[in-house]
Amino acid sequence: MPIIYSKRLKTMSLLFTSPPPFNTLHSIRDWLRWSVSRFYEGQLAFGHGCTTAYDEAAYLILHTLHLPPTELEPFLDAQLTQEEKLAIYALIKARVETRKPAAYLTHEAWLKDFKFYVDERVIVPRSLIAQLLLEEELGFIHPWIESMSEAPKTLLDLCTGSGCLAIVLAHLFPDAHVDAVDLSLDALDVARKNVAHYQLEQRLTLYHGDLYAPLAQKRYDLIISNPPYVTMESVRHLPQEYLHEPTMALGAGEDGLDCVRPILEHAREHLNPEGLLVVEIGHNRHIVEEAFPELPFVWFEAEEQQGHVFLLAAADL
Ligand SMILES: C[S@@+](CC[C@H](N)C(=O)[O-])C[C@H]1O[C@@H](n2cnc3c(N)ncnc32)[C@H](O)[C@@H]1O
Repeated sequence: MPIIYSKRLKTMSLLFTSPPPFNTLHSIRDWLRWSVSRFYEGQLAFGHGCTTAYDEAAYLILHTLHLPPTELEPFLDAQLTQEEKLAIYALIKARVETRKPAAYLTHEAWLKDFKFYVDERVIVPRSLIAQLLLEEELGFIHPWIESMSEAPKTLLDLCTGSGCLAIVLAHLFPDAHVDAVDLSLDALDVARKNVAHYQLEQRLTLYHGDLYAPLAQKRYDLIISNPPYVTMESVRHLPQEYLHEPTMALGAGEDGLDCVRPILEHAREHLNPEGLLVVEIGHNRHIVEEAFPELPFVWFEAEEQQGHVFLLAAADL
C-alpha cells in the first residue's frame, strides 16, 4: 500500500508538466492558490524580501498585474484576461524553474516605501539596518543619533551594493552628504542607476575600492555597513536562490569576518569624536565577540533577530 501511494504521488507532480491551467483558473484568488501550491511543490526558499510562499506569490501576481504591492484583498475575486494569465504563468514558472529570487525576475526590491532597481550584479536588498533606520520605534539607532550634539552631516555606507542603505540615509538626513563604497564595479553600476533614480547625485558619492581605502583620511559622523559576513561553512549550505547572488556579497572567509574585522580595526581612524559605527553581522555575534573581547558592543535585541546588528561609539573603539 505505501508503495502504491508513493508511486501515485510521483505521477501527481504538477510542476509545469501538464498544460497551463488557463481554463480552470480565473480569479486572482485562483492563481494565488495555484502559485502557492507550485512554490511548496518546488520546495523554494524565501528570504529575499518575502518570507513565505504566500507573500511571494501575492507579490509576483500583483507586480504582473501592475497593482500596488500592498493591495491584494480588494482584487482577490477579480477575473483575469488571457494575457494576464499568460504573464502570471510565465513568471511563476520562471521563479520555480530558475530558483532565482523574485527580485531578479521583476528587477525591483523594496525597503519599506523605497523601491530599488536590482539585477544579479547586486545582492537583493533586505538589510536589517534599513528596518532599524526606517522604523524609529525600534529604538536602536535613532536615540544614539539624537544624543549627538548636532545632527550627523557626514555619512558613510561601506559595502553599498545597490546603494540602497546609502539612499535611505540620504533621505533621512537631507542636510548630510553620503559617501558609499563597494569593491564591485558591477554593483556600483547598479548603485549609480538607483542614485540617479532618486536624483541624489549631488549629495551621494560612490567610491570604488576596498572598504576605507578610496576615502583617504576622511572622517564621518555615522558609518553603517552591511558587509559580506557568511562563514565558509554556511556558504556551502545556502539554498539555490542565494547562489544567484554575487559570491563576493555573501561569503567572508572561514569565520565570516574578512570584512567585519578591518571595518572594526580602522573605524576609529574614520569616525569623528562623537561618531557612531553600525554593522550587520548575521548570526556571527559570538564570533565577533570572541575576536574583539575588549569592545563594548551594543546589540540590537529583538525576539526574532537577536544580535544581528551592533553599534559602537567612536569613544569606545
Ligand atoms: C551583503 S552585500 C550588501 C549590499 C547592500 N549594502 C545591502 O544591504 O543590500 C555586501 C557588499 O559588499 C561588497 N564588498 C565585498 N567586499 C568588499 C570590500 N572589501 N570592500 C568594499 N565592498 C565590498 C560586495 O560587492 C557587496 O555589494
